[in-house]
Amino acid sequence: MAAIKFSAKQISEIDKSSTQCAVLPLFSDRKLSKQARALDKITAKGIQRALDLGDFSGKSGQTLLLTGSGKIKRVLLLGCGDPDKFERKGMRAFASTLYEACKKLSATEATLHMQGLKLKAADQTWFLSYLARHLVCANYRYTETLSKPRPASKLARLVVNVGDTQPVAAANRALKEGSLTGQGMNEARELANLPGNICTPTYLASQARSLGRKHKKLSVSVLDEKKMSELGMHSLLSVAAGSKQPARLIIMNYRGTKASARPYVLVGKGITFDSGGISLKPGAKMDEMKFDMGGAASVFGALSAAVEMNLPLNIIGVVAAAENMPSGTATKPGDVIQSMSGKTIEVLNTDAEGRLVLCDALTYSRRFKPAAIIDIATLTGACIVALGSHASGLLANDDDLARELLDAGQESHDRAWQLPLWDDYQKQLNSNFADMANIGSAGAGTITAACFLARFTEDMRWAHLDIAGSAWNSAPKGATGRPVALLLRYLQDRAEG
Ligand code: BES
Ligand code: MN
Ligand code: ZN
Repeated sequence: MAAIKFSAKQISEIDKSSTQCAVLPLFSDRKLSKQARALDKITAKGIQRALDLGDFSGKSGQTLLLTGSGKIKRVLLLGCGDPDKFERKGMRAFASTLYEACKKLSATEATLHMQGLKLKAADQTWFLSYLARHLVCANYRYTETLSKPRPASKLARLVVNVGDTQPVAAANRALKEGSLTGQGMNEARELANLPGNICTPTYLASQARSLGRKHKKLSVSVLDEKKMSELGMHSLLSVAAGSKQPARLIIMNYRGTKASARPYVLVGKGITFDSGGISLKPGAKMDEMKFDMGGAASVFGALSAAVEMNLPLNIIGVVAAAENMPSGTATKPGDVIQSMSGKTIEVLNTDAEGRLVLCDALTYSRRFKPAAIIDIATLTGACIVALGSHASGLLANDDDLARELLDAGQESHDRAWQLPLWDDYQKQLNSNFADMANIGSAGAGTITAACFLARFTEDMRWAHLDIAGSAWNSAPKGATGRPVALLLRYLQDRAEG
């Protein structure tokens, strides 16, 4: 895939530095900065004339392409709206307008002059990081099973002239971090977009192994069904019982700091296809259940970006991978199984399989003595009813951890919203035939699913992200790479202490 390279520079004499396209942000106050006046000369007063003619007013989302001269081949004006209201929302609009405009150009390089943006100090690095992340994400194309992939932008290099707004080194760090976040999101998207006949539990395991070969500090191990059976993971195995695809438990261990530091553990739901099993799902949109490994995909994406960032943390990714299918060997409603923890579960609905694989992965993870453990799962349709697609659902047994994750979501614009995990909901999981049922009685489906998981995380600092609504879009269909940005922000914040 076409990667975009980013670099920050301090260019004082704009007209002496070559570029295929100078990008100039302009506000609706139509004031021309020093840089704008220099570019106005290069376009034979094209900027001033466009403003006078009313062809460009500087409102948000507006663009105008002018022909340059000398070393500057083109000048792209990009509207930023009211200068007093240019905040993070405006910056996000800026990034997407810039990408859409660049997509139409044949330029392979552009130089963005950001002095005119007059950002607050706290927003300088945020802007660069978000910009790089957005451009990298916007340029992602799914190609694997297409004969004629949609073309990406030709832009291969973006130079950012930071002028005297900030040190070049800090700007480069922000660009790098943003671009790695975008790459992590794209890795998650690619895995999730792959069809279920390619992306099986075995495929996920091989992806993990190849990640492990790429990075010295990352070691990977994979448990097969025999090993899982010896460990007593009958809950996880019960989900794979109806499938020809064997289940896998994938463990990716990144050592970024001293061995004594407790690790952050990310546990991903990796159902590579969820038919519902014997409690078969209706046919409409069932294809979208190939995305039911979105949690696992986000663990891959976040972990590999964290490794690339060389974060000084220990991080362990655990992926519970299985395919949920109906067959003569499948688990049936009413079956009682025993989880690795020893607790028994009555499977009242084989379509509530995510919690069945996660509970054993969570029990397994106790051995790592996590500083915090976060599971990520496309767990409940009820979460889409409650929150739609803008927020991931967040439930936690630790208020500080919940706050840290909510803050990370806010900061990275990959937001989550907390739901209560009160004990009052626990009794909805009562069963006459086992220690608990795998579905809750009517109401609060996202909460009762989390209540089920809470029974397996009792003495760990644990949080659960339900990404059923945020992990993919239905129109046009495609994985979003969420919540990789949230997870990376959370991890970076821990690394920065
Ligand atoms: N993977 C689904 C949840 C899901 C459904 C995510 C639709 C995104 C879109 C999960 O395994 C599931 O089927 N959950 C059931 C639970 C129910 C049987 C208690 C659900 O939400 O209907
Ligand atoms: Mn299901
Ligand atoms: Zn599922």
